[in-house]
Amino acid sequence: MAEIQLRNVSKRFGDIVAVDDLSIDVMDCEFVVLLGPSGAGKTTTLRLIAGLEQPDAGDVLIDGAIATGVHPSERDVAFIFQQYSLYPHLTVFGNLAFPLRSPRRRSSEADVRARVHAVAEMLHMESKLDNMATHLSGGEMQRVAIGRALVRQPKVFLMDEPLSSLDAKLREELRIELKRLHRTIGATIIYVTHDQVEATTLADRIGILDHGRLVQIGTPREVYGNPVSLSAAQRLGSPPINLLPPTLFDSAHMPARTATVAIRPEDIVLHDPDVGDARGAQDALNLTVLEYSPLRHLLILDRAGTAVVATTIAERNFSPGQSVGVSLPARSLLYFRADGRRIPT
Ligand SMILES: Nc1ncnc2c1ncn2[C@@H]1O[C@H](COP(=O)(O)OP(=O)(O)O)[C@@H](O)[C@H]1O
Ligand SMILES: [Mg+2]
Repeated sequence: MAEIQLRNVSKRFGDIVAVDDLSIDVMDCEFVVLLGPSGAGKTTTLRLIAGLEQPDAGDVLIDGAIATGVHPSERDVAFIFQQYSLYPHLTVFGNLAFPLRSPRRRSSEADVRARVHAVAEMLHMESKLDNMATHLSGGEMQRVAIGRALVRQPKVFLMDEPLSSLDAKLREELRIELKRLHRTIGATIIYVTHDQVEATTLADRIGILDHGRLVQIGTPREVYGNPVSLSAAQRLGSPPINLLPPTLFDSAHMPARTATVAIRPEDIVLHDPDVGDARGAQDALNLTVLEYSPLRHLLILDRAGTAVVATTIAERNFSPGQSVGVSLPARSLLYFRADGRRIPT
């Protein structure tokens, strides 16, 4: 059970501002994902919470108490790294039991066995307890690394891209397991990643990090549907949001100082050619099909030299060169200023 707060935390390395005036409140039992590209300050943020780095300014609070000066080992947080580091000379059991056998813990051997078996069951690793750590697949090693954090029952889990070294299938499996684990153990988890699928599937709330700054924080739906800036809008969505020049639109209906108009591919309305253009839609445009992928239901259209990506349904078929009537509904358009900030409408 733990709350984590960052209050105006900054951390520099020489001239580089790794974390820039960052404030976040993570609630007890919340799963918060910090999403950002490489160099955004994700690892540094976790290291500051763990006490492996000290902030230059601001405070880290754990359960309401300022953690400055509290040694990492006293913070009761578990750090799970991108590169799992198991003890190669120990079995899976030995690796899982290791944190419990520290002199400070003084757990009984029966207690250790019970805890290790409970965690192994959660992670579906019971049959592998006697394997040497080196005789495991990458996915199994990462499970053991997660298990080693779980046995300690820490207040907070800090996870630094824990799935990024696994292949796509394993990543998906472990992602689902992590979500299930979070439900079961009800822990506070701060998880960082550059992968938007992980972020949107795992998070109660996503914080978008960019150059050490928190651009936006909210539920996946809030950040996706209501991005505060162009960089937040581009961070979520696959295929990505369409960015269009304002010259394609009727300026009478556009807010002043619009530099970019954006629309999600699924918000583009494709009209059925058999029903005539657009059931009388006022805003129908005719665009030319550049490319169509029946596998991904993706349509790429040409609008005055600008590629526009739309998603469509499996039943429809398109061929390059064909003309398609589309609407870009006003309620789906997002407007941004030249500095990237969203213009409220
Ligand atoms: N120990 C360090 N010394 C110097 N620069 C660092 C150190 N740790 C991180 N940085 C720099 O701080 C910035 C943020 O790094 P990091 O927190 O690792 O980002 P991320 O995990 O999002 O990729 C980067 O520009 C990185 O090069
Ligand atoms: Mg990192």
